[in-house]
Amino acid sequence: MSEPTLLWGGRFESGPSEVFQRFSWSLHFDRRLLAVDIAGSQAYASALARVGILAPEEAAAIREALAAIPEPPPDAPDEDIHTYVIRLLKEKAGALADKIHTGRSRNEQVSLDTRLWLRGEIDSTCALLRGLMAALLNFAGPHTATVVAGYTHVRRAQPVTWGHYLLAYFEMFARDHERFRQARARVNLMPLGSGALAGSGFPVDRQGLARELGFDGVTNNSMDVSADRDWALDFLSAASIAMLHLSRLAEDWILYSSDEFGWLDLGDGVTSGSSLMPQKKNPDSLELIRGKSGRVFGALTSLLTTMKGLPMTYNRDMQEDKEPLFDAADQLAGSLDMARVVVQTTKLRLAPPLQAAEEGWLVATDLAEALSRSGVPFHQAHQLVGRLVLESVKQGKLPGAWTGADLHAFDPRFAPEMAQLMNPAEGMKTRTAQGGTAPATVEAALAQARLRLENMS
Ligand code: ARG
Repeated sequence: MSEPTLLWGGRFESGPSEVFQRFSWSLHFDRRLLAVDIAGSQAYASALARVGILAPEEAAAIREALAAIPEPPPDAPDEDIHTYVIRLLKEKAGALADKIHTGRSRNEQVSLDTRLWLRGEIDSTCALLRGLMAALLNFAGPHTATVVAGYTHVRRAQPVTWGHYLLAYFEMFARDHERFRQARARVNLMPLGSGALAGSGFPVDRQGLARELGFDGVTNNSMDVSADRDWALDFLSAASIAMLHLSRLAEDWILYSSDEFGWLDLGDGVTSGSSLMPQKKNPDSLELIRGKSGRVFGALTSLLTTMKGLPMTYNRDMQEDKEPLFDAADQLAGSLDMARVVVQTTKLRLAPPLQAAEEGWLVATDLAEALSRSGVPFHQAHQLVGRLVLESVKQGKLPGAWTGADLHAFDPRFAPEMAQLMNPAEGMKTRTAQGGTAPATVEAALAQARLRLENMS
């Protein structure tokens, strides 16, 4: 390795050992922060000019030299991205560069860079989430009245519409979107002017720096800036919950597209074949989404564990924040994009989910509720329909085989017209309370969801 450039050599008689360098240098991953490190240093040069540390033309020269710094080559001999940028600045701007770090510490710089980078990631994550939500709403459009079996405990429970089912995921992703916006508000505070931990000894205009760098405000406490990464944990937590939602959607659709269910046709473009079994069409895209959720939860656990025992304020342990954070953001972005394409290319077959709803006594609740509307106390109605189901199961008689006369003969509390509730599309029409699966209610919820999505940013 070539000679390292250091920002802290004065107090040392010899340089770092090669083992320590290999162990501690972070340029191979924090190189991702190049653009934001440059933007932060450019703003800081202007701030130093405003307090007279740099002449205006010196600040301009520094800003220009910073703008010309290329990506670090793979063999760059620098400890981290901040050190790399300073070395290149010195090469380009000479002795002028010696003033850029006045009053500034890498502890605040790394907070600044990570916040700037994460803000961009949050914005692109939100755009990807909105793309997925739009795909879900498009899929729901023609299916506000399409009957499918709804499940609890993986047992057929009550009929719902496919649109209603898709809107459930819309709600989850809408909350994820909100969580990312909330995380952004805590990320988007400007830390420069905090120094290493005790605050800046120079009257830098922190508000001006915040404005130039697009922050909503400034941080309140210099020690807090050096010490905490809870705003990164906010992102990882929101990312984990979003991946959890994606993973459950993936799990559903892996099942629903199986031969056993036969509900969904996944597009050829998101499935793979087998190297041995010629007939196979495997849902790998969904399995990978489900798999990557574990990786993102790992990133959250990793940073929580890194942070939990650290004494105030900065400790080098905190350098371990970046790889999990970068990886989680990448996996989340990839999964959101993949899920969108799966949703856009999947087709619902109508007959199998309807048949599942017709055959499994999903209408039992509708019958019990109809009885209770006609004056039978609900517990008695529940008991009575339970007996009807038991009898039917014993006889192998499906709901659709019961006529009004049969029902009335089974128990006179059944009015003959209750037989129409044996069609799962009938009973669901009563579920009009807001948030329910009545087709008209789902239609209205879908229109509402479209409006909400339009107003999300
Ligand atoms: N690479 C370091 C990090 O990511 C930058 C800060 C280094 N500060 C220090 N005092 N060694 O945390």
